Amino acid sequence: MPSHATIRPAPRRAAHLALPLLALLLAACGSGPRDTARKPESFGQIDRARLLAADATPGDWLTSGRDFGKGHYSPLEQINRDNVARLGFAWEYHTGTRRGLEATPIVVDGVMYTSGVAGRVYALDARNGEELWHFTPEVDGQVNRKACCDQVNRGVSVWKGKVYVAALDGMLYALDARSGEVLWKQDTIVDHRRAYTSTGAPEVAGGVVVIGNAGAEYDARGYLSAYDLDSGRLAWRFYIVPGDPSQPRENPELELAARTWDPKSRWDVGGGGTAWDAMVYDPELDLLYVGTGNAALYNRAKRSPKGGDNLFLSSILALNPRTGRLVWYYQEVPGDMWDYTATQPMVLADLPIGGMTRKVLMQAPKNGFFYVFDRRTGELLSAKNFVPVDWAKGIDLKTGRPLVDRDAVDYTTGPKLVFPATMGGHNWNPMSFDPRTGLVYLPTLHAANYMLDTTRGHEYRPGRLNMGITAMLATGLQLGSPGLSPQLRRQLEQLGRKYPEARDMHASLTAWDPVAQQAVWEYPTPGWWDRGGVLSTAGDLVFQGTDTGLLRVFDAHDGKLLKEIDTGTSIIAAPMSYSIDGVQYVAVMAAWGGGGWFITNPKSAAYTYGNEGRILAFRLDGGPTPKPAPLADPGPRPMPPPLGASAATVQRGARLFAENCGICHQNVPRSGAPDLTRMSPAVHQTFNDIVLHGQRRALGMPQWDDVLSEADADAIHAYLISLAWDAYRAEQAGLRAGTPVVAPH
Ligand code: HEC
Repeated sequence: MPSHATIRPAPRRAAHLALPLLALLLAACGSGPRDTARKPESFGQIDRARLLAADATPGDWLTSGRDFGKGHYSPLEQINRDNVARLGFAWEYHTGTRRGLEATPIVVDGVMYTSGVAGRVYALDARNGEELWHFTPEVDGQVNRKACCDQVNRGVSVWKGKVYVAALDGMLYALDARSGEVLWKQDTIVDHRRAYTSTGAPEVAGGVVVIGNAGAEYDARGYLSAYDLDSGRLAWRFYIVPGDPSQPRENPELELAARTWDPKSRWDVGGGGTAWDAMVYDPELDLLYVGTGNAALYNRAKRSPKGGDNLFLSSILALNPRTGRLVWYYQEVPGDMWDYTATQPMVLADLPIGGMTRKVLMQAPKNGFFYVFDRRTGELLSAKNFVPVDWAKGIDLKTGRPLVDRDAVDYTTGPKLVFPATMGGHNWNPMSFDPRTGLVYLPTLHAANYMLDTTRGHEYRPGRLNMGITAMLATGLQLGSPGLSPQLRRQLEQLGRKYPEARDMHASLTAWDPVAQQAVWEYPTPGWWDRGGVLSTAGDLVFQGTDTGLLRVFDAHDGKLLKEIDTGTSIIAAPMSYSIDGVQYVAVMAAWGGGGWFITNPKSAAYTYGNEGRILAFRLDGGPTPKPAPLADPGPRPMPPPLGASAATVQRGARLFAENCGICHQNVPRSGAPDLTRMSPAVHQTFNDIVLHGQRRALGMPQWDDVLSEADADAIHAYLISLAWDAYRAEQAGLRAGTPVVAPH
């Protein structure tokens, strides 16, 4: 067995277990071993017949979205509107990690399989959270430099006794579902000089397992790889955007795609189009649907100077999984320049449309429109915006093309306020479709970005961020950024006044009727943080977690808040539900992280309780939910060393810090990276060893000597010392005045 698969018979940390009263009484009477001692006998035996008959075993959750259509809906109804007040804690499992958790667990035959930070996998007894095994892939800390959006992983696929997971570095693993042993692994990355990572769940499609990658903020050229389920042999590869025209085309579809790009495009930067999340395999039609990502460079005028649609950016592709050939495609955002990915989760369902039952594919991508397609043909049946949108005036159903309002949003002619924001009207967080109410429960974000072109002839930086533009949230907070010239700030403020909606940024749980294409109810929340994934159940319930650590339960029909459980850990992933031995559970992975949310919620549970990952399960008549211990007071700030550098050096350091370090060190609870305004004397002493020479690379702090010189590191250090002095002086002044000091985050 390889060293990095660990099998443990007992949980790593004691899993708290809320025993039902009856079991307690039985145990007290000494009436033999508890039910929990029974070990599962079958491991991950999901196959085509079982997947097609998912409703026959409603206690299982067989794919990331339960069934093949991935509606994130459970037919279980033991927990329902009438008794949900009795929902309480069943068990928890501590992952021991401190970064974002985004996966929806799979439960089959009493075992829960799920993934965590950088592609860790956990197999738990779903009755009590006891660990059966866990798997930690070996991922070099240097890979973190290529990850835009934390070290998240959006799930595993389980099929015929194997668990498939893609680690952050793009290594695809097939694990034995019984033991966690590695059966095969394949490096899915074609070019390690470029910034490729994998964060999505692999998808089993017929005889292959398919995985894409992320990296369009950097210099990735998106592609999909399909491997034989048993041998791990590469079956096919599909490039999503064309490469340098002087090289042969890897797949025939690129002929069509290339006609939509300027031959003089910036091929060096990769083009983007990365398929970093949604994939759904339809076993009835034998089609694999894949959503593709945004462009690299963002700015089309710089990327493909003569314009063009730039296929297959921001598209849905329907592929034949046997051959890897394209069957149909639909491009949601021709010529993307706003970070509008079509990678958001897709749901397959049967909907009554125009007097017929249509086999549809539904998606609510970042661009703010809710799309309904005929999934046999790709015909667009309807599209309507679910949040404020200004990049397009609508979608023309005759041509299938968006009516793009370039005047409103083309930032090559000056800064623009673009709705939705780059985080999207809806992002990766799963939506849920309840076939009984006919409603989609959708986590939405009503927000805009200022976008401005800062390229002036973009210089390609291999393996690094290459967006070439500036995007910032339209809030007063960000307009206070030190880098803004007073003139630009005035310009942006003026623009903001034209769009009062921009000041009403909020998140909202929206119940959307996909046939009528309209909202039925909405539950808005202040700020834009609560975008957690959603579960709906036949108990007429909708579940969603919050950034502040609440698990909320709503009435599916009218959005009335029925129950709130304070867990003490931020929740962004989707809850799921399963049942064992007649008991229905709701489970969710909890820990804050991911990309896009550059300003953390000051009320985030992560600030009070830290961000240790937990898997939490609930049931009727469970106990009170334990919360993590509040973070210890960090104590007084150490006095920083003297600042010897000039103001110009400090300023240069600030720029280098923003370019290279801020993505991890700005948002302390998000990344698990330390607050660099509180460095100890020992850390100041060894600053360059840590920053330039990889002293803490194994702990996730990358090495920088390939891009930063000693002088650069000194400048960053000087900038951090100046920040530390500001904070230290403020704290001392507060102490002198006898006022409590709130540590700036
Ligand atoms: C991909 C995320 C990431 C990036 C980018 C990053 N760091 Fe770090 N850094 C970390 C993590 C994680 C740690 C904590 C490692 C440990 O456990 O000791 C860390 C630790 C440090 C420490 C030690 C601090 C202490 O008090 O122990 C310093 C100094 C530091 N980083 C400086 C930098 C600088 C300067 C940059 C930019 C050139 C940078 N980091 C970029 C993740 C990052």
